[in-house]
Amino acid sequence: MNYRFCGNSGLQLPLISLGLWHNFGDVDDFSLATEMILHAFEQGITHFDLANNYGPPPGSAETNFGKIFQTNLKNHRDEMIISSKAGHLMWDGPYGDGSSRKYLMASIDQSLKRTGLEYFDIFYSHRYNAQTPLEETVQALIDMVKQGKALYIGLSKYPADKARQAYEMMQEQHVRCLIYQNKYNLLHRNPEAELMPLNVSWGKGFIVFSPLAQGVLTNRYLNGIPENSRAAKSHGFLKKEDITQDVIGKVLKLNELAEKRGQTLAEMSLAWLLNKKEVTSVIVGASSVKQLQDNIGSIQSIDFTAEELTQIEICCGNFR
Ligand SMILES: NC(=O)c1ccc[n+]([C@@H]2O[C@H](COP(=O)([O-])OP(=O)(O)OC[C@H]3O[C@@H](n4cnc5c(N)ncnc54)[C@H](OP(=O)(O)O)[C@@H]3O)[C@@H](O)[C@H]2O)c1
Repeated sequence: MNYRFCGNSGLQLPLISLGLWHNFGDVDDFSLATEMILHAFEQGITHFDLANNYGPPPGSAETNFGKIFQTNLKNHRDEMIISSKAGHLMWDGPYGDGSSRKYLMASIDQSLKRTGLEYFDIFYSHRYNAQTPLEETVQALIDMVKQGKALYIGLSKYPADKARQAYEMMQEQHVRCLIYQNKYNLLHRNPEAELMPLNVSWGKGFIVFSPLAQGVLTNRYLNGIPENSRAAKSHGFLKKEDITQDVIGKVLKLNELAEKRGQTLAEMSLAWLLNKKEVTSVIVGASSVKQLQDNIGSIQSIDFTAEELTQIEICCGNFR
């Protein structure tokens, strides 16, 4: 594994991080979940990304991670970066969703309890919520750090102008925001316009979620929708209707390019992201050790020729 500094902080993250959004809940295979986490750590993946609501049911990914950690990895705590988040619906009533101080403070305590951890390395506000004053959310995040419940703060899916305001507020109080997390992949380029330049100019890390477009940017859907795939599962966030002819047309062309490079499509999709100096790490999901290993293989070849980069843009429909 290779590691990159997270913006201009002193913290390094692995190029490949492992996310527990899918495949680590109570509906999933616990022994496979254990195998994937241990394999990841053995391969130098030091960063594991959680959120309060990962499961299903919500909370169960944290509980399962906690069990796996307490049994197998407890002695390696200082070698690991474990993150969690709060911001989406977690429990009933007005205090179980959003970005209020009440919700965030209760949520981090619940997440620490579920995982059995003493602190999170990174705690994120999972999304911007216009109904909560930004000052309230930022102050709650700062106080978590001051209370020793989190070492660093992260923001996820904030509009660029709100992220900038939050960075300014944190700077005034000398508590830094470490990292910004957003979706970014060959088929989803929105962060390039504002978010990535913003984070570079502020010296923040930029960590990518759904780098494989939930599996679309792999060989998973080249010949239809396999039964055990995310798109086929009723609780999967990828919907069958997202896998359109247009998307598969692009994916097939990208797959040909990957073959020419001697990579799998998953490897090339991740390598394309890691080729960008603005990207600190990509958080992959996986439903098998084989997939995880394939993804780790991407770091062997992250350089592209100008011609390859042009061909990729053409495949993605960005050049006519
Ligand atoms: N901040 C946020 O709001 C937010 C939102 C979403 C995600 N995240 C974070 O980002 C993490 C990753 O998101 P993601 O799971 O959508 O990432 P992803 O890497 O784009 O998709 C993972 C899925 O792709 C398929 N896959 C992965 N590697 C493969 C390979 N080598 N070959 C074939 N198929 C492969 C698997 O699907 P199958 O299950 O079908 O095999 C796997 O479950 C999450 O776990 C979470 O930590 C954060």
